[in-house]
Amino acid sequence: MRKSSEFPSWGQNTALRVELIRGGTGSAASPPIAESPAEGSRYHAPMRGFEAPKDRLAIALDVPDLHSERALLDRLGGVAGWHKVGLELFSAAGPAAVEMAGADARVFLDLKFHDIPNTVAGAVASATRAGVSMLTLHAGGGRDMLCAARDAAESAAAAAGVERPRLVAVTVLTSLSEAALHEVGVATHGVAEQVERLASLVADSGLDGVVASALEVRGVRKRIGPERCIVTPGIRPAHTRVDDQVRVASPSEAIASGADLLVVGRPVRGDSDPAQAARKLIADIEHAIAG
Ligand code: C5P
Repeated sequence: MRKSSEFPSWGQNTALRVELIRGGTGSAASPPIAESPAEGSRYHAPMRGFEAPKDRLAIALDVPDLHSERALLDRLGGVAGWHKVGLELFSAAGPAAVEMAGADARVFLDLKFHDIPNTVAGAVASATRAGVSMLTLHAGGGRDMLCAARDAAESAAAAAGVERPRLVAVTVLTSLSEAALHEVGVATHGVAEQVERLASLVADSGLDGVVASALEVRGVRKRIGPERCIVTPGIRPAHTRVDDQVRVASPSEAIASGADLLVVGRPVRGDSDPAQAARKLIADIEHAIAG
């Protein structure tokens, strides 16, 4: 195994990192955030950062290294407004993966922080300074952890002169069924009850939104109100594989139920033409927004 000092770090300009990050298309910084709401949402005005149909789609860059990320991003060509960097890629490539993903889209850092408040606050501050536009935490970390994260994002953004990232909390992973929850000792009368309980805690703690499956969006919206965002993974277009997701929906079902941002991984990465697959999803989203 390499020593940690050999891994590319955020400020370290290794030739490999620069070459990979530049790639074929990556020149611009994150796109500017328009203030005017788009027309057509039947449920609530689109929030800042979610105005255009392409800004309602996050592609999960669940790949093992920077080379694979570069290859996927080149094939996507900036078609979606968001790129999600998760555990697999960040564990391999760290902040260089964030920088690469941010060249032609906003970055959603999905590391699902869950630790003592002081540690989570430090992680949120680091991610804020790295310029991510959204990040995830586990709501199950509790009120003190969520509040510490919120305060850390505020102060790190002010100190660095960057925009504060949205903090969104995971309630119940979309791969978990009620039986799986019972197995880990969560005594709940259904997944929805647990999701909604945690969604209320997220809103009370002043976070920006919740990660929820399409089937739970309506219940979550009641708990968090129209100002907070709902991020929805487990999206499967008709006729594609469900994989390990349990609570899945099509893009139009998710948008129609009130999701703000859809997260899609395997149906795009596994397609022979990922950009075309993403464009189809965006067309579905546009259609659903128009109602
Ligand atoms: O490949 P697939 O479309 O299932 O990818 C979904 C993405 O959303 C993955 O990166 C996964 O980690 C993430 N996610 C999820 N369920 C949650 C939170 C995040 O599937 N509750």
